[in-house]
Amino acid sequence: MSIPVIQAPMFLVSNPKMVTEACKAGIVGSFAALNQRNSEGLDAWLREIIEDLETWNITNPDLLAAPFGVNLIVHRTNSRLQEDLQAIIRHKVPIVITSLGAAENVVEAVHAYGGIVFHDVTNPRHAKKAAAAGVDGLILVCAGAGGHAGTLSPFAFLSEVREFYDKTILLAGCISDGRSVASARIMGADLAYIGSRFINVAESGASEIMKKLIIESNALDVVYTAEVSGVPGNFLRKSIIDAGLDPDNLQTKSKVEIGEMLTCEQDEKKAWKDIFSAGQGVGSVCDTPTTAELCARLKKEYDATVKAFLNEMVGDPR
Ligand SMILES: Cc1cc2nc3c(=O)[nH]c(=O)nc-3n(C[C@H](O)[C@H](O)[C@H](O)COP(=O)(O)O)c2cc1C
Repeated sequence: MSIPVIQAPMFLVSNPKMVTEACKAGIVGSFAALNQRNSEGLDAWLREIIEDLETWNITNPDLLAAPFGVNLIVHRTNSRLQEDLQAIIRHKVPIVITSLGAAENVVEAVHAYGGIVFHDVTNPRHAKKAAAAGVDGLILVCAGAGGHAGTLSPFAFLSEVREFYDKTILLAGCISDGRSVASARIMGADLAYIGSRFINVAESGASEIMKKLIIESNALDVVYTAEVSGVPGNFLRKSIIDAGLDPDNLQTKSKVEIGEMLTCEQDEKKAWKDIFSAGQGVGSVCDTPTTAELCARLKKEYDATVKAFLNEMVGDPR
């Protein structure tokens, strides 16, 4: 990896092109399995990604691609779970990112072919449960993150989890630049997990309307509510208004069931498709570069921050 970053999976946003471009730039790329409409589609995407990265590695032996990951929703409403898991096993996906449930049998199945499992959590209680299920790393989804975010400060959450967990920790929530990636490392995280910043890349599956709104929005334009998807998450205020709802007075009836939301089969204006999820980090997103350009920028900022920090702490070795 060129820098300690995972491009986080995003429903309806991440796709094979984003994943392979990130991996070629030395950043772990990932996507949500449910971004494909069925398990055969997932199988095809996995084949496409693996072939692309294998070709890249043959022609660029000095610049090997970072590994990639797939997000699996481990929840009773995900009827595709077993079939998707079989595709993941067949293709030996290097990193599996589980959310909503940490399942020992998934961890065992992935370990059996040599893969690793990272699990995302929003509080220390769930972190302990996932650690007990044997996952290889915990993704701490902190306050202000895009998607189903938590409410804890990264300082509080990370320190508490480090007390009982010595494996890999990934920090998520509002990380949009290389300086923040370096900060996450200094705080004690092993990797930074970046979602919202990657909505605005040329290759992303987000609509032009969503990308424009991300550029126009700041942290205060993000609403934290459970009334859109049924699970507390962050959504762009204006997209809630444009969907005909009042962001300050959302009714429970606007909830959609998690299973429906994840298959996105409704044609009405519903969660994720027309009500855009994004984190408070959108305040610093003001353009739509290519994935390669964004990764190069993150690396430049990260390297400069680390260098400046080291110079300050230990003095310039020159
Ligand atoms: C539009 C959007 C869709 C998301 N979809 C998923 C998903 O399908 N599965 C998942 O585990 N996390 C999902 N997330 C959460 C991200 O993987 C990640 O945890 C989060 O974006 C990190 O916070 P940040 O957006 O502030 O960088 C989504 C986030 C966004 C913004």
